[in-house]
Amino acid sequence: MNSNKMKAIVWTKYGSPDVLQLKEVDKPTPKDNEVLIRIYATTVSAGDCELRRFQLPLLFWLPVRIIMGIRKPKKGRILGQELSGEIESVGKAVTQFKVGDQVVAPTTMKFGGYAEYICLQSTHVMTTKPVNMSFEEAATIPTGGLNALYFLRKGNIQSGQKVLIYGAAGSIGTYAVQIAKYFGAEVTGVDSTGKLDMLRAIGANHVIDYTREDFTKNGKTYDVIIDIVGKSSFSRSVKSLKQYGAYILGNPSLSSMIRGSWISMTTGKSVINALASYKTEDLIYLKELIDARRIKSVIDKRYPLEQIPDAHRYVEKGYKMGNVVITIEENR
Ligand SMILES: NC(=O)c1ccc[n+]([C@@H]2O[C@H](COP(=O)([O-])OP(=O)(O)OC[C@H]3O[C@@H](n4cnc5c(N)ncnc54)[C@H](OP(=O)(O)O)[C@@H]3O)[C@@H](O)[C@H]2O)c1
Repeated sequence: MNSNKMKAIVWTKYGSPDVLQLKEVDKPTPKDNEVLIRIYATTVSAGDCELRRFQLPLLFWLPVRIIMGIRKPKKGRILGQELSGEIESVGKAVTQFKVGDQVVAPTTMKFGGYAEYICLQSTHVMTTKPVNMSFEEAATIPTGGLNALYFLRKGNIQSGQKVLIYGAAGSIGTYAVQIAKYFGAEVTGVDSTGKLDMLRAIGANHVIDYTREDFTKNGKTYDVIIDIVGKSSFSRSVKSLKQYGAYILGNPSLSSMIRGSWISMTTGKSVINALASYKTEDLIYLKELIDARRIKSVIDKRYPLEQIPDAHRYVEKGYKMGNVVITIEENR
């Protein structure tokens, strides 16, 4: 291949996984304040699938559509929200990173993980890869780890508190279970039947199969309930909180925002609509937890770049446990 070109999965329309097409596109060139990263691994997340088919909550529909493209994704748009890789070149004003650094980063609203290369500003949220993780494992840290950490901190988790995580076996949930345990919480993970053994294996003290039991009807109460998938019953979840408990909504709707403000104003309980903001210091914090072997990534399946449409089909079936990883560069 021409050295000025790279392979990427380009997002051509809003719709089924077929709209994701393998193309040869221009390899980016770093500006003075940017680094060029050779991407070794990325992921396909539930969020990628929601964006691809453009199935977003009403609240976000218009603002995200304006950013992505009104009628179809803007020309050359590449999905992919996180990556691990190696810095291949740096702009002349870059001091924080050097050629050869192995890094991990979310792509934020720039996206672009489904490609062989990406340029990111050197001040972008980014850190060096944990040494005890493979590139595939490390690629899962930004979305799962940063969101989980943000939601748990919003709940101000204290040691000994009872924390329930709803949608615990996914990208965010598997990190949330482990970080909550690290914070000293007694963790209940809620997810579907086939995923409960994995939840126990990563440290959940209790598990609930949502297909058989409604946690809001078992008489137990929690200091913090984190609903990652936005499918718990709002009023019954609020009732399942202890007196000063917090209900963290990782997938808030307009109605939950309005009802949540009322609950927070009129009761001792708080409802928090959590939209995570990513910070480099938090990524470094997660790297340190990983270096200390306190948390790890959960990988379900791996696909090569060319098979990203198949990875989307798999993720959409809902079987995924933890993360689906895309391996881009195998000969390293
Ligand atoms: N607030 C933010 O800043 C932010 C940031 C990133 C992502 N998100 C959102 O967070 C959501 C989840 O992300 P993720 O990547 O962790 O998803 P994921 O990997 O698909 O995990 C979701 C898990 O929830 C389970 N689940 C589905 N329905 C459930 C129910 N009714 N009760 C309990 N568990 C249920 C799924 O299992 P089964 O399919 O087997 O049921 C799956 O294991 C996405 O909608 C994404 O858009 C929010």
